[in-house]
Amino acid sequence: MTLSPVERAKQEAAKLAVIENVHDEMIVGIGSGSTIVYAVKEIAAMVEKNDWNIVCIPTSYQAEALIINNHLPLGSLDQHPHVDVTIDGVDEITLDLTAIKGGGGCLVQEKIVADNSIKLVIIGDWKKVSMTLGESWKKGVPIEIIAKAQIPLTQRLKEMGGKVKLREGKAKIGPLITDNGNFILDVNFGKIIDPKKLSTKLKSMIGVVDSGLFVNMVDKAYIGQEDGTVKILS
Ligand code: A5P
Repeated sequence: MTLSPVERAKQEAAKLAVIENVHDEMIVGIGSGSTIVYAVKEIAAMVEKNDWNIVCIPTSYQAEALIINNHLPLGSLDQHPHVDVTIDGVDEITLDLTAIKGGGGCLVQEKIVADNSIKLVIIGDWKKVSMTLGESWKKGVPIEIIAKAQIPLTQRLKEMGGKVKLREGKAKIGPLITDNGNFILDVNFGKIIDPKKLSTKLKSMIGVVDSGLFVNMVDKAYIGQEDGTVKILS
């Protein structure tokens, strides 16, 4: 099957990221989304070919299923609190490696696994890169919240200048429920000039579990280009 330029870019980025960052005897964090599927396939191929002994730590139910379906050893942070490398997708990333994640609704576990990883490696296509966060990802910063705080938080986020939208389920009427049993507010702040300040502010709000702003967390990004090459940001 011929892949579209975007899918090919995602695949090439995922392949190179795995080749350069995943090795034998590693604990590997597995992100969520559509790009990570290519990475998991590559990891599975390398494990089979080289008879590697690795353990994979999921960041969502989706990642858990991917690990199991690709016959990779599944572990948890309880067993392996020190992760060597985590590979994950991204919704938007700037050249200084600040990112928005959570478009697929899995930001909190992604952040926990990333925070306990020596290295966070991001994979994506050229459309994900921008000069300023909020430029290309127009759906807003995903913010996972405790359901009971929805109304007061919505009000406060609006007072901060955000356009707030409660994320709805797709094949379900009403709010989307995350893997952690919470709601997500997608908040469009326009262009985010100071992501660190915004991230700290959001994190300090009672009822917020965490936001999809990844500041000072990403170590390297593999960005697939339209022509099939991969650019590395570090
Ligand atoms: C999951 O909630 C996200 O953080 C994903 O990693 C991000 O949305 C990228 O997803 P795609 O690889 O599907 O673009």
